[in-house]
Amino acid sequence: MTSEVRIDGARLWDSLMEMAKIGATPKGGVCRLALTDVDKAARDLFVRWCEEAGCTVTVDKMGNIFGRREGRRSDLAPVMTGSHIDSQPTGGKFDGIYGVLAGLEVIRALNDAGVVTDAPIEVSAWTNEEGSRFAPAMVSSGVFAGVFDLEYGLSRRDLDGKTIGEELARIGYAGQAEVGKPVRAFFEAHIEQGPILEAEGETIGVVTHAQGQRWYECTFTGQEAHAGPTPMRTRRDALVGAARVIDAVHRIGLEHAPLACATVGLLQVRPNSRNTIPGEVFFTVDLRHPDDATLSRMDRDVRAAIARAAEELRLETALEEIWYSPPVPFDPACVAAVRAAAEANGFSHRDIVSGAGHDACYVARVAPTAMVFIPCEGGISHNEIESASPAHVAAGAQVLLDAMLSRAKA
Ligand code: GLV
Ligand code: MN
Ligand code: MN
Repeated sequence: MTSEVRIDGARLWDSLMEMAKIGATPKGGVCRLALTDVDKAARDLFVRWCEEAGCTVTVDKMGNIFGRREGRRSDLAPVMTGSHIDSQPTGGKFDGIYGVLAGLEVIRALNDAGVVTDAPIEVSAWTNEEGSRFAPAMVSSGVFAGVFDLEYGLSRRDLDGKTIGEELARIGYAGQAEVGKPVRAFFEAHIEQGPILEAEGETIGVVTHAQGQRWYECTFTGQEAHAGPTPMRTRRDALVGAARVIDAVHRIGLEHAPLACATVGLLQVRPNSRNTIPGEVFFTVDLRHPDDATLSRMDRDVRAAIARAAEELRLETALEEIWYSPPVPFDPACVAAVRAAAEANGFSHRDIVSGAGHDACYVARVAPTAMVFIPCEGGISHNEIESASPAHVAAGAQVLLDAMLSRAKA
């Protein structure tokens, strides 16, 4: 059965487009790195919209924002939804913010229908989901779930040495509330960020699992020297070492195809001068696979590739695995609620595994959790051209609303 409460798709779309003006980039995307001034402006707008919808807003010590709509039974933990406001440097208008504003639309639609739920309904915005400015990703939902302690979360540094704690205080989002609280159920709506739903013509992805991830930071140190007089055989070129590892990482991903993903996405070359042999290179590695044992084999192969490059080029190596997020099975009852909501609304759907990390992956440690995916154009995300259709945006929010309502009954 579908609920009587209907999402206002046009209102949700308008809010998404209004929000996309904050940090807008020339190619139609957004740059809203965590805890920058534009992140603050987007947070401020979200808080204002929550208050206008009658919510009580609280901010916790990690800067996570919660907009709460009271239910009939204040003794029940909230049914929560949410995602993130921050973006990649060349991010799109939907990654993260769709799940936040879909949650706000759930509350606006409940208000319009005059529905009082048994459990309270909350919409959350989690700090620094992307892990782009501050590694690792999902750090604040991780603190919420007890995966990281508060001290660890607040002390994460960006490449300029600024910490999350300092930047939260600077933008006025170092809240008072303790991090973590009971949650009755959690649902996150998100664009798929991959090609499957679009290719198969499905409207809703019922997310059953999320794949595991391992993130590394590596510094190769060789020797800076003059690009002219230094003979090739005597060189200790750190960038050549990194190049070998980048190629090896790519091959390791291909060897474990079709499910593996392996990426070097960040490289810093020092001194980065065209006529000096690179003496030091810092780079990151991102490995993903839905099967933990395969992810461990990829870990072993990447470590071997780094050791080989270092030995052959006589480089010193500082290698650290900075993050391990194991594969996540979502809660069968919440997954079933998403599937039932898609079914009841007549939306085509299929089960799907998330390739990306999401705050839901950590919230799943402390609350029954599931996710709703909608297609995105060409499967493209982490790109300014990221796009989703108004019909799919509305469908995902309707499924989110109905799944939440099914869990909000006493
Ligand atoms: C978050 O966007 C991720 O890296 O999966
Ligand atoms: Mn996201
Ligand atoms: Mn993302």
